[in-house]
Amino acid sequence: MTELETTQRQTPDSLMLYGFWYRALPSDQVGRKRLHKTMLLETPLAIGRDRQGLPFALHDACPHRGMPLSHGWFNGQRVECSYHGWQFDSHTGQCQLVPSLTADQKLRVDRIYAGSYPCEERDDYIWVYIPEPGPTGAGFTKAVDPPMPAPRVPTFSDKYKIAHLSAELPCTVDHGIIGLMDPAHGPFVHQAWWWRSRHSIHEKQKNFEPIPNGFRMSAHTPSANSAPYKLLRLYADVDSITTAIDFVLPNLRFETIHAGKYWFSSLTTVTPITRDHCRIDVVAAWNIFRWVPFGPSLLKFVFAKFVEQDRQTMERQSEGLKHNPHLMLIDDADRPAKWYFQLKAAHLEAKRSGAEIKHPMTGPVTLKWRS
Ligand code: FES
Ligand SMILES: [Fe+2]
Repeated sequence: MTELETTQRQTPDSLMLYGFWYRALPSDQVGRKRLHKTMLLETPLAIGRDRQGLPFALHDACPHRGMPLSHGWFNGQRVECSYHGWQFDSHTGQCQLVPSLTADQKLRVDRIYAGSYPCEERDDYIWVYIPEPGPTGAGFTKAVDPPMPAPRVPTFSDKYKIAHLSAELPCTVDHGIIGLMDPAHGPFVHQAWWWRSRHSIHEKQKNFEPIPNGFRMSAHTPSANSAPYKLLRLYADVDSITTAIDFVLPNLRFETIHAGKYWFSSLTTVTPITRDHCRIDVVAAWNIFRWVPFGPSLLKFVFAKFVEQDRQTMERQSEGLKHNPHLMLIDDADRPAKWYFQLKAAHLEAKRSGAEIKHPMTGPVTLKWRS
């Protein structure tokens, strides 16, 4: 094979995948009194909580003349548009009142809907299901029923701690995601005296296998120079430590580490906000440091440091990407990124044709790289 074939040129297509659940806002940012403006996949949303504390998500544009509903009033049950006072049920989006109507006018207000989206609260986040966009000009109807529940962080005991953090990334969701699964940037981006230097770089070999809508870095003993490993070997027999990482469409990265009876689990998502802006959210749960008073803050500190290093890198990268350079993905270090693009294409093709998704991997694969 020639050099050119192995370093296939590739530019991310930055298509956003509809028909999935996405993390919208951390739970603690959404109180009961007001509507919170946010955006997912270029879809403006007004998010709130009813009197019982149940979250809801409405399209942030009134179906009458497009006024953002987030400028309106909310009484714990109905949302009132600030322009002509139309009122909508906060959960279904169904219109309840059009104040300008006279007694003899027979407009069926119950047929009018503000767009509403399925909403679930999981692991300190409000998740919103974003369906395929409807035909333009058709108005809104009832929200669709999502085909699956919102994802959650896997947990392995009754008692555990949980923490989350997020960072905005000025790049397309594709760059955010491939940055997340890229093993070769570690020694250069994530240097710190207490963790590793670029001199600790060494050859690694990892096994990957296909899973539904994604791929798994099979359970293995973590690399000797990885942070979780360094922490965990203080607690458990080195041989009992295993870790597995799953990537699942559209944007989910699950990492699970077991060390005897201790475990650490995280779900990281990269969420498209607009075509060229995304957000990374990490939720981690663990039963490891529960008895160490500073444990959670230590873990959060380590995580925040990593995420900040990635954010800074992507901010700099976005300067270069502005001018649309040709990009390349090389073997083996960029193979997971290639699988991601292939999975995405296969998903879109399956949706177009109505056939089963054709997984780009036919079986287990071993990849080698230095990091
Ligand atoms: S724009 Fe909302 S009621 Fe008219
Ligand atoms: Fe990173």
